[in-house]
Amino acid sequence: MALNKPYLDVPGTTIFDADQSRKGYWLNQFCMSLMKAENRARFKADEEAYLAEWPMTDEQKAAVRARDLNWAMRTGGNIYFLAKLGATDGLSFQQMAGSMTGMTEQAYRDMMIGGGRSAEGNRVVGEDGNAQGAPAQSQAWKEWELSNQEALAAQILGEHAARQTGGGGTPAGHARITASVYTSHVPAIGAAIDLGKTGEDYWKPLFAGYEPSKQWMRENKPDVVFLVYNDHATSFDLGMIPTFAIGTAAEFVPADEGYGPRPVPKVVGHPELASHIAQSVIQQDFDLTIVNELQVDHGLTVPMNLLFGSPEAWPVKVIPFHVNVVQYPVPSGARCFALGQAIRRAIESYDEPLKVQIWGTGGMSHQLQGPRAGLINKEWDNKFLDRLIAEPAELAKVPHIEYVREAGSEGIELVMWLIARGAMADVAGGPAPTLKHRFFHVPASNTAVGHLILEN
Ligand code: DHB
Ligand code: FE
Repeated sequence: MALNKPYLDVPGTTIFDADQSRKGYWLNQFCMSLMKAENRARFKADEEAYLAEWPMTDEQKAAVRARDLNWAMRTGGNIYFLAKLGATDGLSFQQMAGSMTGMTEQAYRDMMIGGGRSAEGNRVVGEDGNAQGAPAQSQAWKEWELSNQEALAAQILGEHAARQTGGGGTPAGHARITASVYTSHVPAIGAAIDLGKTGEDYWKPLFAGYEPSKQWMRENKPDVVFLVYNDHATSFDLGMIPTFAIGTAAEFVPADEGYGPRPVPKVVGHPELASHIAQSVIQQDFDLTIVNELQVDHGLTVPMNLLFGSPEAWPVKVIPFHVNVVQYPVPSGARCFALGQAIRRAIESYDEPLKVQIWGTGGMSHQLQGPRAGLINKEWDNKFLDRLIAEPAELAKVPHIEYVREAGSEGIELVMWLIARGAMADVAGGPAPTLKHRFFHVPASNTAVGHLILEN
């Protein structure tokens, strides 16, 4: 919804965007499974039994049975994924592509030998080229459409209604960032909650510092939290290290970080808003990794507990946003601050009146390694809090080396706070935020705990 799609009027062309990807998720994942010889053999031996293992729609399964690639793409398939199905059948890419044109295999091959299809008349729908008009349909697709006319009409009506109201059937109005929240995310805090130790002398002052925040949260509950955190070698190992990654899935389960998964609710996402933000932010030249499968670790679940307590289900939707602060090079403070500004523009261009909070987590000073482990720098941390409130643009210029020297090697997590701060109204020329709560405490495990709430 609300995604800018200038490509919709290119004839005979489906762009595989976030909406298509969401629609085609299981169809494409099924296709991927055919990259294993053992799965191809099982699929060939008993197609129905193999298809039954996949949570695809009936229509997607019908499209697969018919080997109708235009139909499969209509249901969210992408050619590189569908090609695994074609390969399983022994088809070449030329045969697959040609099968979608309505031409015979020979005619398509001859066209390619003759120089390929001309772009003339095929740039915009309604010109007079040879790729205009509806896609070729298999007999199976035609029959499916005939027997599903009612459902199809309802779908078209629904899409029409969504366009009229600005999407999703909700009233017009835009999303806005109501506040930003900053907090450390120490795993021992989660363990104290899970093991019922919050009343112990060691922990009491820490949890007391978050009582006003929980009260404030009850009074100012957003619809969605955009939660900036770092994955701690949990979902991303050394096989893949995205600098910035946005979770676009419908839900995210708590990870097992080695102690068993934390007994906290699963996190419910907001795929539509997340996809919109991904598209908008990437179009503003920030390269985000789009993640549809993500288990969330203490970096995300501990802040959730600190602000919402321990409910049966989290009372808000959450868009997890990961920043690499584990393996250098990690993004600079300036880059994070600019990214926050891009995220603000993205959220405010979403045409549903959602209240969104943006959180920055991690820090403050801590070092978890080597002879310097245990480093704490109260003065530097408190100066960081002062500057984050009053002069974030200047603070964003602080180089990595200062974080490492002054706040410890793991204190670099603090750059993530600059993403949340960059998304506040004053950075875009609006009024200064209101400080609702400030808290600082040493120690939690190895870490200095800092916490701020800034309201727009
Ligand atoms: C600790 C702090 C962290 O931020 C983290 O990710 C892991 C451990 C600690 O203080 O123990
Ligand atoms: Fe951490």
